[in-house]
Amino acid sequence: MLKIVLATKNIGKIVEFERLLGQVSNSIQVLGLNEFPDMPEVAESGTTLSENARLKAQAIANFTKLPALADDSGLFIDALNGDPGVFSARWANYQGESSKERDLANIKKVLIQLENTPVSDRSASFKAVVAYCDSRNYAQVIEKEELGVLKGEVLLEPVGDGGFGYDPIFKPTGFDKSLAQLPAGVKDEISHRGIAVRAILPFIKSHL
Ligand code: IMP
Repeated sequence: MLKIVLATKNIGKIVEFERLLGQVSNSIQVLGLNEFPDMPEVAESGTTLSENARLKAQAIANFTKLPALADDSGLFIDALNGDPGVFSARWANYQGESSKERDLANIKKVLIQLENTPVSDRSASFKAVVAYCDSRNYAQVIEKEELGVLKGEVLLEPVGDGGFGYDPIFKPTGFDKSLAQLPAGVKDEISHRGIAVRAILPFIKSHL
């Protein structure tokens, strides 16, 4: 059984990754970062999803001595010039511990910013970069990254209670429901994270 450490404590993401990896291999055991309480916080100091994903994967692979998979993702809204983008998780600057409250605060801020933006001009994309790093052999560090994009639009108000983050206000192109209303399996098929994970898996499998 190969152990891979996921560079996140976000339960919503861990659940999605477990499902996605489980679809392609039953010989991968996913460990969340919560299983490594001594792991120092990795500052997401990059200015792009790619930089942040790589920073996290490298730091965790080095610390845990296990292969690590990190993603950095965000919602890029055209009418806001790509905001909240890499700052999606901390957009409303919520300081508490509750991820649900944080999601609500972020959604509220985005909806206020788009208050005067008509339905026809609310296009947006979710993007995810997934980075893999295996530094078990220091002489030959293995790294790879893939990007996934999901296009859609920002709704006028939140709908649905599935998923996490901005799911209740995002309607994927070609669907008449928000991401929070779609069954998890459907989200996996179309999501930015699903696309990126499926793209990187053949590489991971061939380097185990
Ligand atoms: P990070 O990748 O941990 O920096 O956080 C990205 C943030 O973007 C999350 O906390 C969410 O707010 C948002 N986000 C990323 N992917 C999704 C998604 O699939 N659904 C809803 N929100 C997402």
